[in-house]
Amino acid sequence: MEFLYCDPSVMVVRNSYDIIVNTLEEGVCYVKVGRKTYHENNSGIMPSVTLVHKFRVPQKVLDEKKEYIVFYKAVYDRKTNFPEVGKLLKKKYTFRPIEKSDDVKVFYTADIHCFWEEAEKCALGAGKIDMYIVNGDFGESSSYDNLRMLNRLIGNVTKGEIPSLVGRGNHDTRGKLAEKVTDYMATYDGHAYFDFSVGPIAGVIFDCGEDKYDNHPEYRSLNFFEQYRKDELKFMRKVKLADKPFKFAVCHIPFMSATAMSGQFDIMGDLYKEWGKTVDKMGVEFMICGHTHRIDYIPDGDKKDKFPHAYPVIVGSELRTDPTLLIGTLVTLSKKGSVATFISHDGKVVRKISIADGKKID
Ligand SMILES: [Fe+2]
Repeated sequence: MEFLYCDPSVMVVRNSYDIIVNTLEEGVCYVKVGRKTYHENNSGIMPSVTLVHKFRVPQKVLDEKKEYIVFYKAVYDRKTNFPEVGKLLKKKYTFRPIEKSDDVKVFYTADIHCFWEEAEKCALGAGKIDMYIVNGDFGESSSYDNLRMLNRLIGNVTKGEIPSLVGRGNHDTRGKLAEKVTDYMATYDGHAYFDFSVGPIAGVIFDCGEDKYDNHPEYRSLNFFEQYRKDELKFMRKVKLADKPFKFAVCHIPFMSATAMSGQFDIMGDLYKEWGKTVDKMGVEFMICGHTHRIDYIPDGDKKDKFPHAYPVIVGSELRTDPTLLIGTLVTLSKKGSVATFISHDGKVVRKISIADGKKID
C-alpha cells in the first residue's frame, strides 16, 4: 500500500458505488474495473491538488467483475508543460458484492466522536459482515487528518472488499473543514441524502444537518439547513424504493423522538412530520438512528413520540465516556424475522432483539 493512506471505501449511493481513495501524497488517481476506467469528473482534468479522490462506478459493473484496481501517479510539480510526475503505481482489490438473498449481516455504528479504535473493534468483533454502515458524528471536521479517519476506519473494517453506507451527523457539520466532509462520503447531486439499492436491500439515508434552528447563535448564520431539509422532503417524496426483500431507512437524528426533539432541539416539527409520512409510504421494515448516545427501540405506532410512525425505530449506537463504552448493532436481515444484536467494543453482546416487535431474544 505504498501510495495509499488506507484501504478504499466502497460506498453505496443509489445503484452505484462511490469508491473513495485517500493517498499519502498529492497526485492523480483513477480506478479500473475490467476494461473500463473511471476518472473523476473535472472537465477532463485529473485532479492532483488533493489527497482524497472519489470515483463513481455502476454497481452492476463491479458486482460482476468482483475486483478493481486503483492507479496512482504522484504529481510533484504540475508545470504548464512537462509536469514532474512519479511512476504509475497500482493496487488490486477483490470485491464481495451482497449476493445472498437471506441472512444478510450489516454492522451499524454511529456517534463515534473520535473513538476510532473502539469503533473498529466493535465492527471487527461482529465477525464476517456483508455491509458496514457509519451513521454520523464521526469525529471532528476541523482538520484533514480528522476527516480522513472516517475513510481509514471504513478501510480497516471492510479492507476495500465490501460495500459501506455513510450518513452525516450534526457534529460533522461543524468545524473549519465542515464543507469538505462530503468529499469523504458518497453524495448524490451534491447532497448527503439519497435512496440506495444494494444486493437484496433497498432504502433511504437521510441527512438532518444541524440539530438546532439556523438562527441559533452558535452557528453565526453560516448554515442554511432549513431550506436543505425542505429540499430533502421534495426529493424523498419522489423516491420509489426498488422491490427488494429488505427495506430500511437510516437517519442520524431520530426526528420523531420526543427525547431527541426537545427544548432547543425541537425544531421544524411540521416538516419532520412530513418526513415521517414519506417514510411510512416507503414500506420500510425499520429505521435505524443514532445521536442520543443510548441504544433504544421505539415500536411502530408509539404514542409517546412526536408523531406516530408505521415502522419501529432502533437507536443502534451508544457512547459512554469515563470509562469509554461504544456500542454498535449487528443487523441480521432475515426472511424469518430480522434481528438486532447490540455489541460493545469489548466484544460483549449487550442485548439481542427481534426487530419486528423489540422482544428480547436469548
Ligand atoms: Fe448527533
